[in-house]
Amino acid sequence: TENEPMRSYPLGSDDRAKLKQALDEMIAQGPQEVPVVINGEKIYTGNVAKQLNPSKHASAVCQYHQADAALTQKAIDGAMAAQAKWEALPFNERIAVFLKAADLLAHKYRYKTMAATMLGQGKNIWQAEIDAAAELCDFWRFNCKYAEEIYQQQPPKNSVGTWNRVEYRALEGFVLAVSPFNFTAIGGNLPSAPAVMGNVVLWKPSPSAVWSNYIVYEILVEAGMPPGVIQFVPGDAEQVCSTALADPRFASLHFTGSTKVFRKLWADVGQNINKYNAYPRLVGETGGKNFHLLHPDLDSNAVRHAALQTIRGAFEYQGQKCSACSRCYVPKSLYPEFKKQIVAEHAKITQGPVWEFNHFTGPVINKFAFDKIKSYVDHAAADSNCTIIAGGKYDDSVGYFVQPTIVETTDPLTKTMTEEIFGPVVTVYAYDDDKFDETCALIGDTTEYALTGAYFATNREHIVHGTNLLRKFAGNFYVNDKCTGAVVGQQPFGGGKGSGTNDKAGSWTLLLRFINMRTIKENF
Ligand code: ALA
Repeated sequence: TENEPMRSYPLGSDDRAKLKQALDEMIAQGPQEVPVVINGEKIYTGNVAKQLNPSKHASAVCQYHQADAALTQKAIDGAMAAQAKWEALPFNERIAVFLKAADLLAHKYRYKTMAATMLGQGKNIWQAEIDAAAELCDFWRFNCKYAEEIYQQQPPKNSVGTWNRVEYRALEGFVLAVSPFNFTAIGGNLPSAPAVMGNVVLWKPSPSAVWSNYIVYEILVEAGMPPGVIQFVPGDAEQVCSTALADPRFASLHFTGSTKVFRKLWADVGQNINKYNAYPRLVGETGGKNFHLLHPDLDSNAVRHAALQTIRGAFEYQGQKCSACSRCYVPKSLYPEFKKQIVAEHAKITQGPVWEFNHFTGPVINKFAFDKIKSYVDHAAADSNCTIIAGGKYDDSVGYFVQPTIVETTDPLTKTMTEEIFGPVVTVYAYDDDKFDETCALIGDTTEYALTGAYFATNREHIVHGTNLLRKFAGNFYVNDKCTGAVVGQQPFGGGKGSGTNDKAGSWTLLLRFINMRTIKENF
C-alpha cells in the first residue's frame, strides 16, 4: 500500500486550473441542500441550518437538514437492520468499497472535495490537498491493509490433540461517529474505520464541515456502501448523541473534537452503563497544547530551521490542527537569533480568502472560534508578562480573519502558554540554558494534554536525553521536525492524558477497538 502521491498545484498546471474550475463552479452554484441520509433515502426535514463560508461569512456553502430524535432513532434502527448482512460479507467485499472510494476520490472527485474543504473550512490549496485528497485516500487504503493483517492473526500454538483459533466479528451494536470540522479526512475516517471491520455507523458530521463531509459520504455510496451501513445524520449534537447513547445497542463512540465534549459524552455513557448490551468502546482524539523545544546545542542554521518549522507548525491552517504548535521553549542563548528568524518568516506570511489561492493562511472556522482566539490575543496584549512580537490584529468584518500572532512571555504559566487556543497564536518562552531538564518537566506539568511535541537538537546524546525526558508528554513526538503533519501508514496519530485514548488513527491499533474476538479451542 502506497501513500496517495501529493500534488503541488504549481502556477500554470492542469491540476491548478481544474481545482480553480471546481471552486468557481461551486461558488457560482451557491449553497447546496444537504439531506439526512437514512437507509439510502435522502430526507429533507425542513429543519435547516447553514454552514457559512468562513472567508466571507455573508455567504453560505450549504444548507443542511437536521435530524430530530425520531429520525435519529430511525437511523439507529436502520443501521441495526443492515448489520447482519454487512458483517457477513466476505472481508474482500467490504474492503472493495473503501478501495474504490479512495480511487474515486483520487481521480474523479479530488477537486470537488478539495473545493468544498477550501470554501467551507477555510483551507488553502495545499492544506486541502494534504487533508481532503491525500490523507483521506490513505485512511481508506491503509485501513483495508491493516484490517487484512488483523484478520490473519491466529494464536501461534496448539498443544497435542488441540486446535486453537480465534475468529473476529463486529461489535454488539452500532458505532456513533462524531467528527470535527478541521479535517475532512477525519470526517471520512471516523465512520469508515469501524465500518471496514464490519460495523454499522451513525455519522454525525460537524456543523462547520457538513458540505465536504456530505461529498465524502456520496463517494462512499457511489463506491458501493450498502444502504444503512453508514447513516449520515447531521443535526443538533446533543440531541443526536443523547438519542444514540440512550439506546441499548450503542456499542462504541468514535470521536474527534474537544476534551470537554468527549468527557461529557463519556460521563453520559457512564450514566447509561446499565442499559447497554455490551461495554461500549470509547475512542477519542481530543485537545492539545503542543510544544516545540529547542536544545542549546543548535547552530544558527538549525535555529533557522526550527523557526521556520515553528511558523509552519503554528500557523498552517491557522493553527486549527489538533496537532498545531502553540507553545515554544527556546534557550536564552539562542533566543535573539530565533526571534530574528521567526519574525522574519512571519513577515512573509500572507492571509486572505481561499479562492485567491496563494495565501499561506486563511480565516478561522467561525464566529465562536474567532471570539475565543481574539480573547487570547487580547489577554496577551494586556498581560504585563507578555509582548506580541508579530501579528496581533483581527478582523471579522468580511471573514473570520485573525493574524498569525507570536507572543513572547517571561511567564511560562501565562494563559496562552497553558490553555488550548485552537487558532493562530504561538507563545514563546526563553528558558535558562542550564535549566534544560527543568524545562522538560515544566512542559509536562503545565497542561493536561499530551498530543504532539517537537524537539530540535543536534548532538545524539542530547537527542536521546530530551526524548527520554519528554517521553510521556506527546503521543506523536518529532525530532527536528514540526509537530504537525502525521502521515497515515508512517506516523500513527494520537495522544494520551487529556488528548485522547491514544488509539492511533491511521494504524492497526485503532481498528482493534472495533472488533470482537471469539477464541475456539477444539479437542481432537
Ligand atoms: N494528523 C494531523 C497532524 O498530524 C492532525 O497534523
